Amino acid sequence: MLKRDLSIEFLGVKFENPFLLSSSPVGNCYEMCAKALDTGWGGVVFKTVGFFIANEVSPRFAELEKEGTRFIGFKNMEQIAEHSLEENLEAMRKLKKNYPTKILIASIMGENEKEWEDLAKLVTDAGADMIECNFSCPQMTSHAMGSDVGSNPELVKKYCAAVRRGSKLPFLAKMTPNLGEMITPAHAAMEGGADGIAAINTVKSIVGVELNKLIGLPIVNGKSSVSGYSGKAVKPIALRFIHDLKTNSKTKDIPISGMGGVETWQDALEFILMGSGTIQVTTSVMQYGYRVVEDMISGISHYMEEKNIRTLQELVGIAVSNIVPAEDLDRTYIVYPKIDEDKCIGCGRCHISCYDGGHQALEWDSEERKVSLIKENCVGCHLCSLVCPVQCISKGEIEFKKNCEKKEILL
Ligand SMILES: Cc1cc2nc3c(=O)[nH]c(=O)nc-3n(C[C@H](O)[C@H](O)[C@H](O)COP(=O)(O)O)c2cc1C
Repeated sequence: MLKRDLSIEFLGVKFENPFLLSSSPVGNCYEMCAKALDTGWGGVVFKTVGFFIANEVSPRFAELEKEGTRFIGFKNMEQIAEHSLEENLEAMRKLKKNYPTKILIASIMGENEKEWEDLAKLVTDAGADMIECNFSCPQMTSHAMGSDVGSNPELVKKYCAAVRRGSKLPFLAKMTPNLGEMITPAHAAMEGGADGIAAINTVKSIVGVELNKLIGLPIVNGKSSVSGYSGKAVKPIALRFIHDLKTNSKTKDIPISGMGGVETWQDALEFILMGSGTIQVTTSVMQYGYRVVEDMISGISHYMEEKNIRTLQELVGIAVSNIVPAEDLDRTYIVYPKIDEDKCIGCGRCHISCYDGGHQALEWDSEERKVSLIKENCVGCHLCSLVCPVQCISKGEIEFKKNCEKKEILL
């Protein structure tokens, strides 16, 4: 089947497709980035470099699982690059030489204005196409760096201005989600000279506590610490921050490189529909390898073909306007659940959830192992359909509330 062209222009740079390794161990050296680019990634955001060389803990990861599913969320205690700055710059030079059409984004992190300016110069000279400023690592051992900087709009603006002095390349400011709103620091970044926003970095977390040793995970010689959470579990948080940026009058026109929990082409497309021009990925690559990009490329190509969409750009941000404030939602009707008795396996889970966590609207016949709707109790919350293991509950009859006008409803 014909493959669609997934190329996109982002900050004035042409990407063969929007998929990038996000800055992390997945793009830690020349060989790793080269393998990723050979697998089909449109570009890489190289692991954050700085004059500060990280001294890391061991072990440094933990994961959240639920009912046997691993990696629902992933916690890391890593800082920035462990290789020397010169080694990293050499890797960037080699990457740009051997992969001239792929996009190299250098992620940098300084400790003061001079460092930010110098780093911007160095990565520009090394051949980067674009810079990403890491204002967002939540587990730096120095509070002059990372998310402590990213939650201070004045510092964000000052350091962006330093980067602008050091380089003419387009640059992204990578934001922390560890604050109530992202509009203020994102706007400050633009005032300082940034061309776009990358969001999100990891969410501060304690992923679990070991119950015999009474220590948070991962255990580092008897202790643990708060650090960044990523993977599928953070996708809703990332989408919400991106949506907020795209709907605020101060930030709505800022180009966004979106990330946080992208595993599949559908995840990637959701970020695009919510306004991301490029997509970055780490955790799913750490779990499954670089080949996840193949699914992303073919999935989005097929979607575009099916919907007759010619360019990826046409999709960017087109779902933003369908997220509205709570007060603007239609509250005039109830949609009742419809139970497909042929598909029902009689497990009773819908009944239990409806009774214990809902409105006691499903009657349970324990002999026949069947449920039936008690319409007068049902509020149409659809908890039943969410817990059903065989998806036999769908949206059924629509009833309009008293004195509410009947109309077409899009479900
Ligand atoms: C182990 C690990 C190391 C990371 N290191 C960096 C880093 O050096 N610089 C940076 O900007 N983000 C770093 N991140 C954050 C990711 O680039 C990304 O923003 C975050 O993990 C969300 O995307 P994901 O859910 O696809 O992993 C790191 C993430 C992980 C899991």
